[in-house]
Amino acid sequence: MICEIKYNMKILTEHIDVQGIETIDVFRKHGGYAAVEKALKKMTPDEVTEEVKKSGIRGRGGAGFPMGMKWSFLAKPEGVPRYLVCNADESEPGTFKDHYLMMKSPHTLIEGMIVSSYALGANTSYIYIRGELMYVATILEKAIQEARDKGFLGKNILGSGYDLDLHVQLGGGAYICGEETALLESLEGKRGNPRNKPPFPAVKGGLWQCPTVVNNVESIATTAWIVNNGGDEYAKIGIGRSTGTKLISASGHIRKPGVYEIPLGITVEDFIYADEWCGGIRDGHKLKAVVAGGSSVPILPAELILKTTNGENRLMTYESLSDGGFATGTMLGSGGFVVMDETTCIVHNTLTFGRFYHHESCGQCSPCREGTGWMDKVLYRIEHGQGRQEDIDLLVDVAKKIEGNTICPLGDAAAWPVAAAIRHFRDEFEWHINHNLKIC
Ligand SMILES: Cc1cc2nc3c(=O)[nH]c(=O)nc-3n(C[C@H](O)[C@H](O)[C@H](O)COP(=O)(O)O)c2cc1C
Repeated sequence: MICEIKYNMKILTEHIDVQGIETIDVFRKHGGYAAVEKALKKMTPDEVTEEVKKSGIRGRGGAGFPMGMKWSFLAKPEGVPRYLVCNADESEPGTFKDHYLMMKSPHTLIEGMIVSSYALGANTSYIYIRGELMYVATILEKAIQEARDKGFLGKNILGSGYDLDLHVQLGGGAYICGEETALLESLEGKRGNPRNKPPFPAVKGGLWQCPTVVNNVESIATTAWIVNNGGDEYAKIGIGRSTGTKLISASGHIRKPGVYEIPLGITVEDFIYADEWCGGIRDGHKLKAVVAGGSSVPILPAELILKTTNGENRLMTYESLSDGGFATGTMLGSGGFVVMDETTCIVHNTLTFGRFYHHESCGQCSPCREGTGWMDKVLYRIEHGQGRQEDIDLLVDVAKKIEGNTICPLGDAAAWPVAAAIRHFRDEFEWHINHNLKIC
């Protein structure tokens, strides 16, 4: 059933396929940099923050924390610099929307960086991008130079008296450096180990111990539209506390994989089956399971991803996807929507994710360092025909011991997929063990 929602509402991707949109001239012909003119010439920084608050936008990096509220926590001590850091690390398996946006339309992010930095009073800002995306960093650098040449960056931007330097910093390709405090350590030139909190980055645990806001690419890019159209207009899109549009990276056994900008509130069923979006499951196959928000969120079987516990259509919103808690729900996360048909082996998939988290654990906290290693080993032996019945409960036990017991949420991210796979597909783990199945 198609729901009553403005299907074609596009905020970030309206002009993404226009030829030459990566250049500042074409970008400006399509309304680009109007938000910088408006914010810097007609609005105070607090007024920009107020619009972001009114919009109700929640951070698009995974945790969904209200962006305006995060900005209002930023400490502003006299004489101390403040920073805005854009998190463009995007290493979560299943998530590739930031990469797509920056590659196709780099000025969309740069415009958002300028208005957001202005609102926060930052005169130096950074885009921290995953090392493997070197070619995207080059695209961003070129766009930054164009913006500088046109007077949108540098000293006294558009005669407003506001100065901003914007830098691109490549990471080393470690998933942990997407966690905001590990990212800050890495940006300072150190090993990317997450920091203990408090102090929080917005107060004094930020870059070089200064107040710092870290936001996701999509979150920051959206602020230009909010400045142009107002927070109230943005809040009209979506449902309840899930306002606005969301970029979804859709992959797996669907007919049309890709990045889609959806208005929050469409049904999951529409997203999977409608031709505007994923176009249904590949021919001759049927839906088995979905990982809705990137590899860290709990996997759900077909019947639970399509309907909530009271039988209503599940919606693409923060609230609806988490309906039922972890017993029957999941999370919108970073919007990495991985669809699996009946040919998928859940044990194999869980091992793939488990191996990733083991490899990417920074090793700082013992529950994560040791626990991800044990989960990887036990999953491997189940997958390779050496599993024992007690291994299933052992995995559940190890996952429980990791969850909530680490400095950063990588531990939770490693535990949840394993626990959920066993919760919903225990019979497949048992089948592997009972049949002494040797995959290779
Ligand atoms: C292991 C790990 C990896 C993460 N990777 C990313 C990432 O690549 N991009 C991102 O925006 N947030 C990532 N996050 C979330 C960030 O810590 C942080 O919440 C986010 O950048 C805040 O931006 P937002 O409020 O705009 O969502 C990650 C978190 C963890 C624990």
